[in-house]
Parts: sequence; structure tokens; C-alpha cells
Amino acid sequence: MNLKGKDIISIRDLTKKDIEYILKTAEKMEKSSDRPLKGKILSCMFFEPSTRTRLSFSTAMERMGGDVIGFASKETTSVAKGESLKDTIKTVENYCDVIVIRHPKEGASRLAADVSKIPVINAGDGSNQHPTQTLLDLYTIKKEKNRLDINIALIGDLKYGRTVHSLVYALAMWDAKITLVSPEGLEMPREVLGDLNRFNAKINETDDIETAISNSDVLYVTRIQEERFPDPGEYEKIKGAYRITLDTLKHAKKDLIILHPLPRVDEIAQEVDDSPYARYFEQVNNGVPVRMAVLGLVLGGVR
Ligand code: NCD
Repeated sequence: MNLKGKDIISIRDLTKKDIEYILKTAEKMEKSSDRPLKGKILSCMFFEPSTRTRLSFSTAMERMGGDVIGFASKETTSVAKGESLKDTIKTVENYCDVIVIRHPKEGASRLAADVSKIPVINAGDGSNQHPTQTLLDLYTIKKEKNRLDINIALIGDLKYGRTVHSLVYALAMWDAKITLVSPEGLEMPREVLGDLNRFNAKINETDDIETAISNSDVLYVTRIQEERFPDPGEYEKIKGAYRITLDTLKHAKKDLIILHPLPRVDEIAQEVDDSPYARYFEQVNNGVPVRMAVLGLVLGGVR
């Protein structure tokens, strides 16, 4: 498997074999203290807020002996003076070996990859894609359940949430049974459902949250993406539309696990954190070996 020099912009840039290879490599990374990226530099270009994605990419790079440069907000860069994304990329590519980019506009990461001579990894472009989050979600499911052909319910803002847009394509590769639950107006985009139907994905939509939970092995919850609403009034109307509490979970399977890409606002009650179902902080922890695998493979330091 050769992922050296590859851009990772959409989960669909990866085959099922590529994904399996990344997950296997991530497992090895958990036990490895090698520093195969010594002398390599990662640039984190974050035009949008981030806690986990940016810091786990940085940790992953440093654990492998590499260095990290970059910025966490566009206000501190020449973009604030009106510089284009293209010119910013044509500049940054001279300082590093790989770029991780997060941007509010859909398609920005693809544009960055098109103009860059070094590999570009998408850390989220608007409501479009977030492929490395999906890799760590799959890694977590595999670790907890030992398989990926699970029954999973995705609950939340399926319209603007980029993590679920990447995740559904990957789950469909493993023939997972996917149930979608969202407040009215925040359903999975029809284009995504159209694509999934073409692959004969096992997917259904419901508003019966309790039944969806009771049939699931994995519950994947997301927050309402307030910052993507064109009209703040619309967000005000819909906020708090769903909330997972111990009571909502009373008919859950004993071995249900709950994942969330985080940040959480109020869609999972704090009381759930201490239940046997919660795995979202383990999921955070898995971001490091998975991003080590991605960086190692793309930079060719790991095979
Ligand atoms: C997600 C994102 O940025 O899309 N966060 C993350 O990377 N873990 C989810 C979100 O912001 O809701």
C-alpha cells in the first residue's frame, strides 16, 4: 500500500483497502516509540476554531519526531490583509513537507491540494468533509466492537455536520446498517443519500429516536452546527431539539457505545459521561495514533 505523497481531502479519496491499512498502521503506532518523521515539518493551517484536530495532529507529528508550524486563526496571517488562499498555500508549501488545513468554505481543501506541490490533508472544509475524523471514528468502533458491519444510529445535525458526511460513505463500504435521526430541516443532504443508494447502502431515516437507539450497537451524536446557519433565528428555533440522557438510553442494548466527534454543547447530558456507554473521550485519545498513521504514511516515514 503506498499512500506516500497522497492528498486526503475526502474519505472517498481512499479505498476500503487504504482505510484498512491506515487502521492497522494506527494500531502499530500505539505501541511504537520510533521517530520516523525526524526532520519533517507539518504546517497546520487552521482558518476555523479547533481543539482536538489541530492539537492531535501536532501531538502525532511531535511523537514521531517531526516539527509543527502554522496558525490557529486567519487573523494572525496575511489572509487578514486580503491574501488569497492560493497565494497562502504557494507560500506555506515552501516551509514544510505536509499541510493540514481547516477552512470554513466547502472545496477550499481541494483547491489547496490542487495548487500545492506537497500533500494536503483536509481537517474539515465547511460542511463538506472531515476524513481523518472518520478514520478515528472507525478505529474506535473497530477497537470497541471488533467489526465495522455494525448497526449505527447517527443523531443530530446531519445537514451541516461534516463528520457524518465523511462517516456514512466509509460505513457503507463495510455494509453497516445506518439509521439517520435529525431534527426537521437538518436531514442528511439528498445528494449524499443519492450516492449511498447507488452503492446499495443499508440506510434508513426515522424520527423515532428511542427505537433507533434500542436497535443500535453504536450511537453517533453530533451538535447542531450553529456557525453554518445562514439565519441565526433559525438556529434559535431548533437549538436543544434533541438530548441524550440516561432516560433516553433506558432501552439501549447493554453493550451500546456512544461516540461524538466533540465539541459537545448540550446534546449529551453530562450524566451520560459516567455511564458504561460513553466512549467519546476514548475516541479523542484514538485521534493521536490514527493521525500518526496518516502522517507517517503520507510522508513515507512509515510503511
Ligand atoms: C468536528 C468538526 O470540526 O467538524 N469537530 C472535530 O473535529 N472533532 C465536529 C463539530 O465541530 O461539531
